[in-house]
Amino acid sequence: MADSWFEDAIAAAVAPQLPGLAVEVVDEIDSTSSELMRRARDGRIQPTLMVAKRQTAGRGRMGRPWQSAQAEREPASLTFSLGLPLMPRDWSGLSLAVGVSVAESLDPSNAADVALKWPNDLWVNERKLGGILIETAVPQDGIAERYLVIGIGINIGAREGTGMSTAPAWIAQWRPDATAPQLLREIVPPLVSQVLLFGERGFVPFAERFAARDLLRGREVQLSDGTTGHCEGVGWGGELLVRTASGMKTVTSSEVSVRPRAAG
Ligand code: BTN
Repeated sequence: MADSWFEDAIAAAVAPQLPGLAVEVVDEIDSTSSELMRRARDGRIQPTLMVAKRQTAGRGRMGRPWQSAQAEREPASLTFSLGLPLMPRDWSGLSLAVGVSVAESLDPSNAADVALKWPNDLWVNERKLGGILIETAVPQDGIAERYLVIGIGINIGAREGTGMSTAPAWIAQWRPDATAPQLLREIVPPLVSQVLLFGERGFVPFAERFAARDLLRGREVQLSDGTTGHCEGVGWGGELLVRTASGMKTVTSSEVSVRPRAAG
């Protein structure tokens, strides 16, 4: 059925800020982010929202796979990528800003406790609800702007945590009737406007909003290089601030992973 994913409504909602958004819903693809990156490298840089009902090679951060939840009839995960040309003065903090936008759309009053785990995870009740993968491509024709691809995966229906490094949470735990198309429609228009805001003003307008949902602030954390310390939140550029035995450490690399340490 045409428009069953609200394609036209989404394109119309973002048109004042981002005219000409192509909305594509595909039954199956390797990865929506891989596809938009391939296109961008070929010079195809039209703003595009690509949603997949199923990904066969979904990717997460640091080369990890991203596996959607399986369901008989309708997608139990929402998996999509938004691609658009963007040229902020500073890219630092973009994944945090995207997280803020998505968390606020999913949980406007913070009643469900959707938290943000630096740099790019959505967590609920100490479990992972979703993830964000930020990539950029420099189009072949060498135009000045980069093409930004924001990939987002969110668990909607119940799923097994077997083999996952973090146990999963899912939207149906507090919104049992939520569907993937509905959530897409709620998430994408604010996301477009917040990404454009980031393009103009960087992370500053997001810093306090991130702090309000910061999962790690005030907790003992461990970085992937083994460093441990007390998390003091994030700075104005989105960097993670960790007080360690040898002083304050600022973590900027998206290649660093950080985990809350178990209490006690
Ligand atoms: C992470 O948790 O490390 C990020 C996960 C991002 C997954 C989404 S699903 C849609 C898009 N396509 C991909 O291959 N990855 C992102």
